[in-house]
Amino acid sequence: MPQTAKPVEDLTPQEAAEELAALAAEIAAHDRRYYAEDAPTVSDAEYDALRLRNAEIEAAFPELVRADSPSTSVGAAPSGTFAQVRHARPMLSLDNVFSEADLRDFVASVRRFLALADDRELSFTAEPKIDGLSMSLRYEEGELVTAATRGDGETGENVTANVRTIADIPQRLPADAPQVVEVRGEVYMRRDDFLALNERMAHEAGRTFANPRNFAAGSLRQKDPEITRSRPLRFFAYAWGEVSQPLAGTQLEAVRRLGSWGFPVNDRMALCRSVEEMLSCYRAIEAERASLPYDIDGVVYKVDRLDLQERLGFRSRSPRWATAHKFPAEKATTLLRAIEIQVGRTGALTPVARLEPVTVGGVVVTNATLHNEDYIRGIGNDGNPIREGRDIRVGDTVLVQRAGDVIPQVLDIVPEKRPADSIPYVFPDVCPACGSHAVREEGEAVRRCTGGLICPAQAVERIRHFVSRNAFDIEGLGEKQIEFFFNHADPSLSIRTPADIFTLQERQQASLTRLENVDGFGQVSVRKLYAAIEERRKVALSRFLFALGIRHVGETNARRLARHFLSFARLREVAEAARMPQGKGDPGNAEWQELVGVNGIGAVVAQALVDFFGEEHNLAALDALLDKVTPLDEEPVGEVSSPVAGKTVVFTGALTRMSRDEAKAMAERLGARVSGSVSKKTDLVVAGPGAGSKLKQATGLGIEVIDEDAWFVLVGQ
Ligand code: IVH
Repeated sequence: MPQTAKPVEDLTPQEAAEELAALAAEIAAHDRRYYAEDAPTVSDAEYDALRLRNAEIEAAFPELVRADSPSTSVGAAPSGTFAQVRHARPMLSLDNVFSEADLRDFVASVRRFLALADDRELSFTAEPKIDGLSMSLRYEEGELVTAATRGDGETGENVTANVRTIADIPQRLPADAPQVVEVRGEVYMRRDDFLALNERMAHEAGRTFANPRNFAAGSLRQKDPEITRSRPLRFFAYAWGEVSQPLAGTQLEAVRRLGSWGFPVNDRMALCRSVEEMLSCYRAIEAERASLPYDIDGVVYKVDRLDLQERLGFRSRSPRWATAHKFPAEKATTLLRAIEIQVGRTGALTPVARLEPVTVGGVVVTNATLHNEDYIRGIGNDGNPIREGRDIRVGDTVLVQRAGDVIPQVLDIVPEKRPADSIPYVFPDVCPACGSHAVREEGEAVRRCTGGLICPAQAVERIRHFVSRNAFDIEGLGEKQIEFFFNHADPSLSIRTPADIFTLQERQQASLTRLENVDGFGQVSVRKLYAAIEERRKVALSRFLFALGIRHVGETNARRLARHFLSFARLREVAEAARMPQGKGDPGNAEWQELVGVNGIGAVVAQALVDFFGEEHNLAALDALLDKVTPLDEEPVGEVSSPVAGKTVVFTGALTRMSRDEAKAMAERLGARVSGSVSKKTDLVVAGPGAGSKLKQATGLGIEVIDEDAWFVLVGQ
């Protein structure tokens, strides 16, 4: 801020916009120095003055509030400030349902998995879904020892010192608590506390939070426990992680038990015996939503019996025994200022709406997805008109929707507000980043850049993906830094492939152009960047696979592959040798069979793997990378001591005591691999009534065959 700042009322809009831009940059730089580098260069009072000035200008020129305005930023410490904690049991998220039909499907899928007929009793708990920050509290011998945020679900941040200041959270548990118990729940802030405190902060520091959840998160993810103490944070317990002894027989009893230990539990939790009862609970909670003192964004249903929860188990990131029934998304109208085309790492051209900032459900939205070119033209995925065929044009007033964490989307336009001179949007047929042709293949909704390796946008996106949180998770390599390294002509400062990241420090040592002297870096951040890179020279196999950006290999499939193959070398060997079926009757070779036999992996993913490992340049890039980093072998999952651990099992014929899905999930939990076909590598075939060709093959190959009852005896269940 200039020493002799003009009074806000004397600023022209042009000056105001310029000053807001300068303030945003300056405050962000101070935030970085304070939070990420622990090296502030201004006093708190100077910092507060900057924020106050920013707030004053924004109040006088609300239309100039920037998307990156410091007044809406969380102001929280970026991760990396706290020590990491590996969760003893992963912290899962929930699948969503949005309608009665979805809910019926969910209940039907639970019944199907358990092979439970419709007339057999099945109860669910229903409770509000709190819009806060999930937390895992580990107690040993009754003492709170660690509090951790969810993080990526496997590893969170250690925020114990801050959490100890939250009055709702007991420091000690009574004597009847198990020796080890991880209590899980939501840290949140009440709406009235949020409003009062936010107003005070606006006055005192010119800094506010967008909603109670951000305020709660910002209060926990900063390093001073006294600040946390001054914020009215609260807690609801609703789940648990590791426990040395079972808590109870049902969800309801278990939560009551948490309540008896002094944890606040939600008093709106109810037991439902049918879909109708679940729906009526949903409606009752929805009707109460506005009058509840805290924000909620849906209703969570959980199978009540814990033995059934155990049998149902988990999909990759969410339990099969629970789901969240979300409230309808929030909507708002605003002006569509421009349509920009983003190029993803696979070359997909995605249209993004740049909007006049608008608040949707408490969050400022400036960008929204427009999906694809047909969507803009008013044509749906099935080729039929959507929005009664209305197209979307720059200058339109549009209806925007935001549902939970999903990217906001443009739903429709307001036809009466369309300017008379507006013109239809023309989707580009060349890539805006490299000028190559962008083509749409037959039957595809997406137009793709054909530039491949020469397209800088794809290369930059691949690196961004590579370092992203659930991939290599390299702190300090954000969007700006990646662009900087990618475009740098100096060979000691250029990063054009993932492997280059790991040679940066080495190249820098032999160079005169010092990264430390580059604007925006500085000694501390360079040191931190190198440390973050070093830390990732060894990386979990699933992260490594996800980072490669192979088509159709997202986090879930990466985990499935890692769990099955256990080492990168094995996966590569199989994928390089696999050959897909060449016409009818050909099952493909044994390697192909192994790929499609991996739980959850089908022919499309298998083919994507074969394609990836069949490309010379991919193998060259991989070898360069493997020279610098080591994907860690995966530990075999399940109870390693089980008699089927490490074995390949095939289920065939009818099963009577469990569904096919449950059989598969159970075998995998016990450390076995489940395959869909019998080969020399099969160790065991579980055959029920009606088994045919697979049983024959197994007998022919001399493979052990047992029936379903013998299976239960074998695995001791
Ligand atoms: S149960 C294994 N119950 O929602 C299931 N989650 O979208 C554990 N959440 O990460 C979650 N209220 O942070 C559960 N009553 C509730 C909840 C709740 C809020 C959060 C939780 C979870 C997220 C998933």
